[in-house]
Amino acid sequence: MCGIVGYVGNETCHEIIIGSLERLEYRGYDSSGIATIHNDQIQLRRAVGKLSDLKTKILDEPVSGTIGIGHIRWATHGGVTEQNAHPHLVNSEVAIVHNGIIENYAQLKKELAEKGFSFSSDTDSEVLAHLFAFVIGQGLAPVEALKAVLSKIEGAYSFAVISKSYPETLMVARNASPLAIGISDNATIIASDATAMAHLTRQVIYLKDNDYAVITPTKVDIYDVKNKPANRQVIKVNVSPILLDKAGYKHYMEKEIHEQPDAISHTISAMTDIHGRLSTNLEAASLTKIRGIVLLAAGTSFYAAQIGRYWIERLAGIPVVCEIASEYHYRNPIASHQTTAIVISQSGESIDSLLAIRHAKKMGLDTYGIVNVVSSTISREVDKILPTRAGPEIGVASTKAFTAQLVVLMSLAISLGRQNGRLDEDKALDIHQKLLKIPGAAGKSMKLFNSVLPIANRLKNARSCLFLGRDTLFPLACEGALKLKELSYIHAEGFASGEMKHGPIALLEEGLPVISFVSEDEIAPKAISNLKEAEARGGYIIVIGTQSAVNTIDFASDKIIIPDCEPILTPIVSAIPAQILAYLTASEKGTDIDQPRNLAKSVTVE
Ligand code: G6P
Repeated sequence: MCGIVGYVGNETCHEIIIGSLERLEYRGYDSSGIATIHNDQIQLRRAVGKLSDLKTKILDEPVSGTIGIGHIRWATHGGVTEQNAHPHLVNSEVAIVHNGIIENYAQLKKELAEKGFSFSSDTDSEVLAHLFAFVIGQGLAPVEALKAVLSKIEGAYSFAVISKSYPETLMVARNASPLAIGISDNATIIASDATAMAHLTRQVIYLKDNDYAVITPTKVDIYDVKNKPANRQVIKVNVSPILLDKAGYKHYMEKEIHEQPDAISHTISAMTDIHGRLSTNLEAASLTKIRGIVLLAAGTSFYAAQIGRYWIERLAGIPVVCEIASEYHYRNPIASHQTTAIVISQSGESIDSLLAIRHAKKMGLDTYGIVNVVSSTISREVDKILPTRAGPEIGVASTKAFTAQLVVLMSLAISLGRQNGRLDEDKALDIHQKLLKIPGAAGKSMKLFNSVLPIANRLKNARSCLFLGRDTLFPLACEGALKLKELSYIHAEGFASGEMKHGPIALLEEGLPVISFVSEDEIAPKAISNLKEAEARGGYIIVIGTQSAVNTIDFASDKIIIPDCEPILTPIVSAIPAQILAYLTASEKGTDIDQPRNLAKSVTVE
């Protein structure tokens, strides 16, 4: 998965392209590159490592030009080397940037090699550059060249091409991977998302799957899959560039942890109906139709789904299954008892989640999306979105989007329970009142940065950690473990507390950190006795819960006390110390917090 950018206009563009690539770093950051056309020559600069390495290279070897393309890479085919970095340049004639995977690249590579083309990278993308060089070399004009190349390639892609023969033309296309075209007074910009151009324009055209376009400084000509000119609407997107600054914090993640009181309260507001009740604002008829749910998601969003399942089944009595998005459509699921598929995704671009919800749609299910980026592909493809109002999340490890997803899931559980009569109005109001206190509790949780620091200091030398929890705190334990391993590279696993004795207990040895979430509910005594079993075997016990929930756990070495909250809402508040613990442990270890190794914020390849 990668990010692509292109510019054609009146200004010297390399800095504009770099500025946009900075906003796409969430999509990958193994290597990056830029190609411009200046004095009838294509100028190419590529660098392995972070974008800062490319900037240094451009300072040493400047580029110029008013047309150019840029790329930030998350390696799929081929290792992290300069040769595999984009743009790929062929014969000094054509340069391309590509996001996605050309699935029939091996066959195409063979055919091109037989024609005498020689390849300099291990990527699937390079075939695109050769194909364009070939067809343009045969004299095809941009539209014809695009048509010819698109008839040959299969797979998921968005790409941009420049050619020395057409020094004022960008050629672009998309299928399954996102691509937005931004229109400003003096230029046209293309990028993998609208955020990347928020500092330049808010007027955006989203290409549909299989669309392609020829773009000059004054014109955007779009064609559809049947090669007919297509009229795609210009949309005004709402992305504030100010929101994308670190605002004085050291890392985006630190900033985003601190933004949770706002993210939660904005999401609660969005989930409030005209009568002031907590609600998804879905019409009664739509709610009544929801009799069985499949929740589809990946990564952190999947753990939010699992917590949501407990809430929806408990408060609305509607059966819910949670499916890892990448598994769903490949196993031919039987969906006869389900009416509704709900995909949960921060970015709205994870390809696994997108393909899963498309499959659900194909099976005839109604589709909903709990999505943070409302201009994303998933948002546009589902029947209806239930937006999280977390604002742009840049740090690779998800924080505020997760707690906002939980708010939407709780609102959904309440709406459904109220609609089918399982939840009476008083109980719904009671949960609503308690939810309204969560932004305040989240605000108070920021003080935990101080008290968690010494624990993070001890944790940074651990080789492995266990996270435990029961009920809704079990998926939260998995999320806590995911956060820690993503950021600090310490091996961590989350288990249901009661499951530990069935295997994971064999891992216990003197000093192994065991981090347990506890709540003040009827199963707390059971969670505590599971923890006692870990302590008896030498585990270093850390508990996370309200003062009264952890009061009796006198055998714990460390206690992280969260602000008081209702047991059913504990996962929302307890998520914050888990994020802080992971953040501080990584910070103490000195790992790259906003861009952990090998990860990407949103993965658009399978
Ligand atoms: C990537 C990120 C994870 C994220 C997952 C799902 O793997 O590294 O942090 O949870 O994608 O992303 P989504 O945007 O679909 O919620």
